[in-house]
Amino acid sequence: MIDIHCHILPEIDDGARDLETAIRMCHMAEANGIKHIVATPHTNTVDNINSFINLRDERLKLLRRSVEERGIDVKLYPGAEVFVDDDIFFANDLKRLTINGSRYILIEFNFRNVKIRKIYDYLNEIIDAGLVPIIAHPERYEFFQFDYDAVNSLARNGVIFQINATSLASLDGLQEFELAYSMAYNGLASFIGTDAHALSHRAPNLSEMMRYFPPDISHYNMEMMVHDSAKAVLTDSPIPMAERNEIRKRGSF
Ligand SMILES: [Fe+2]
Repeated sequence: MIDIHCHILPEIDDGARDLETAIRMCHMAEANGIKHIVATPHTNTVDNINSFINLRDERLKLLRRSVEERGIDVKLYPGAEVFVDDDIFFANDLKRLTINGSRYILIEFNFRNVKIRKIYDYLNEIIDAGLVPIIAHPERYEFFQFDYDAVNSLARNGVIFQINATSLASLDGLQEFELAYSMAYNGLASFIGTDAHALSHRAPNLSEMMRYFPPDISHYNMEMMVHDSAKAVLTDSPIPMAERNEIRKRGSF
């Protein structure tokens, strides 16, 4: 399996707090069937991109070497989880923040105080830069939890989505679960990421989380979400199209 969202690099954001933790996280990932991990430290569009990339690459090199020395069978790739707000209109080098140098960029927004109209503006800016936005954990945002049609409409416009394993395993609340499940079941989620920050809660324990996923998600959708779409990202290829159905909030008509 491939994890495209993981705060595994040591001492760069609120993820792995030291090298030892990062190595143990790689170990846990390996034991959980994850063979490829994209390291996605938090950054934003006004950060000094050069210093972010230098630090990330240095930590990536350090962790790769440690993993190799210990014979852990996990490959690590560069990425970022880019916090997008109004500053994006001044960002000039978004391409450098993509996953493994591909066209795909993992993004997050403010959890509150952002209007859906703004989200459309931000996404247009990213698409105009020739990139494909991947929205990290849409199920965690209230503005999507109560507006499933916004998710449908973004999906129709080429936006792709990564849901968190913990949401689908019902560990993050009912609204999170319902949206994540609905997206996974209907082919609107392209990836399941761990969004791991440490060794417990949101850890890189994907196979363990899978035991708690609803059993009626198709095998095809599961394969797409834990492997096929992510492979396309790592090789900068088009994401294979799953059969998609629009999602509808439970109890609405
Ligand atoms: Fe994250």
